[in-house]
Amino acid sequence: MLIKKPSDIKASQITDRAAYEQRRTFLKAAALAGVGAITSGPAAALVKPAGKGEAVSGIKDSGIGADLTPTEYEHVTGYNNFYEFGTGKSDPARNAHTLHTRPWTVVVDGECEVPGEIGIEDLLKSYTQEERIYRLRCVEAWSMVVPWVGFPLGDLLQRFKPTSQAKYVAFETLVDTEQMPGQKRAVLEWPYREGLRMDEAMHPLTLLATGLYGELLPNQNGAPLRLVVPWKYGFKSIKSIVRISFSRQIPETTWWKYAPKEYGFYSNVNPDVDHPRWSQARERYIGEGLFASKHPTLMFNGYGDQVASLYSGMDLRKFF
Ligand code: MTE
Repeated sequence: MLIKKPSDIKASQITDRAAYEQRRTFLKAAALAGVGAITSGPAAALVKPAGKGEAVSGIKDSGIGADLTPTEYEHVTGYNNFYEFGTGKSDPARNAHTLHTRPWTVVVDGECEVPGEIGIEDLLKSYTQEERIYRLRCVEAWSMVVPWVGFPLGDLLQRFKPTSQAKYVAFETLVDTEQMPGQKRAVLEWPYREGLRMDEAMHPLTLLATGLYGELLPNQNGAPLRLVVPWKYGFKSIKSIVRISFSRQIPETTWWKYAPKEYGFYSNVNPDVDHPRWSQARERYIGEGLFASKHPTLMFNGYGDQVASLYSGMDLRKFF
């Protein structure tokens, strides 16, 4: 595993602390002045770009997650799961340079009035890109905090006018064994697939991410477009999306199909429902080192106030 000790991390790799302090001071003041002020914060309150990729222009500060300290850029982009480029955590950063993200088109079809397709450049132009700092919690009991850039998935879905028959939304990753050499091995069934219930997909916290740390997504993090559903385990956050389909039926999803007793369709972060082979009660924060003590996992990854009502009346042990 690629975990750097604090002594291994160069000063240049550490995110600018002063920028965060400045951001928090601003947000405290903004909170006193009212929520509206938070959403119109000055550019200086945004997380400082890493200086490694192409900057995303005109990012709005959403203020979401301003109380979280992002995991260092090197960990966010160096410790990944992206089986299309290998099953090791450092494989995606090493191998994903073979992926071409321009041109890139996403097809939207299924139960909607105006099926069609949209290019990544259009997506970047047509929707206000905002920064949201979300915790990404993996089913392997580790987590990191990522300053994502993107826009609510619901904003895009509405444009295609889903019909009343659309109960679920399904997502697919690109299949191309030349660009994604890991697909030459049948470690999973390709394409990687994910799905959400319609109300989960339309929830304002559900993000289509186009960037992180103020820059376009690095390939290993799912360029040019990936899903981020902060209250669910990380595998729901499908990368390098090429198809979004509205459907009547619950869609097949990669890990649920692969091992249905281990990975459910919902996959909400839940400290009380263990993975059959390990506990989900505690988690390791990436960046703190292998020997640091673990932290208690929060129900719905800490987003319960916003999303618990989506599941009222459901037995979350059964629908895990
Ligand atoms: N999407 C695709 N297409 N292929 C994958 O292997 N891995 C998932 C998810 N999305 C995966 C994927 C898993 S298991 C996790 S934890 C997150 O991506 C990891 O996102 P990150 O590498 O940006 O931290």
